[in-house]
Amino acid sequence: MEELKLLIPEEEISKKVKELAEQINRDYQGKSVIFVGILKGAFIFLADLVRQIRDIDLAIDFIRLASYGTSDTSSGQVQITKDIELPLQNKEVIIVEDIIDTGLTLKYLQDYLESHQPNSVKVCCLIDKTERREIEINIDYCGFTIPKGFLVGYGLDYAEKYRHLPGIYEIVRK
Ligand code: IMP
Ligand code: MG
Repeated sequence: MEELKLLIPEEEISKKVKELAEQINRDYQGKSVIFVGILKGAFIFLADLVRQIRDIDLAIDFIRLASYGTSDTSSGQVQITKDIELPLQNKEVIIVEDIIDTGLTLKYLQDYLESHQPNSVKVCCLIDKTERREIEINIDYCGFTIPKGFLVGYGLDYAEKYRHLPGIYEIVRK
């Protein structure tokens, strides 16, 4: 059985999401932006983030990626299991991701979205998990930096469990 240790309480997440939205509001004022959420992990983060966006003409899309690998690390071999639906050509795109670990998933997605010829592609990520990074990734908007550990809650799962928890927890194995 696994035990959960509270790492980031709900209030702290909410404060950080507001800060990120304020930065985006400043950078994209008056522009037209497509937020692309990566399913499933980013669904709660994206929902909270977009409700703090002001003065931006905003559209939302989702993509779902499956990565082959062991249960807790990705292989970089990524497959799209649900594609985007909106045209991205000449648009400003912000990828919304829950957590970046090796960076391989995001690198794949950046290259894929670039092939749709958008005007720009930026990355907004709630958690930058740095220790296992395998590829250099430029994160434009980053919520929290945490070196390691397996995290759940606020969209993040372990074997599909714990996504609904309002805070972020670390799994401690007993
Ligand atoms: P990457 O390709 O190694 O960067 O993998 C990133 C993806 O792995 C994220 O989108 C998550 O779905 C998943 N992931 C990585 N670390 C964690 C974690 O600590 N908790 C839950 N999911 C994670
Ligand atoms: Mg994910």
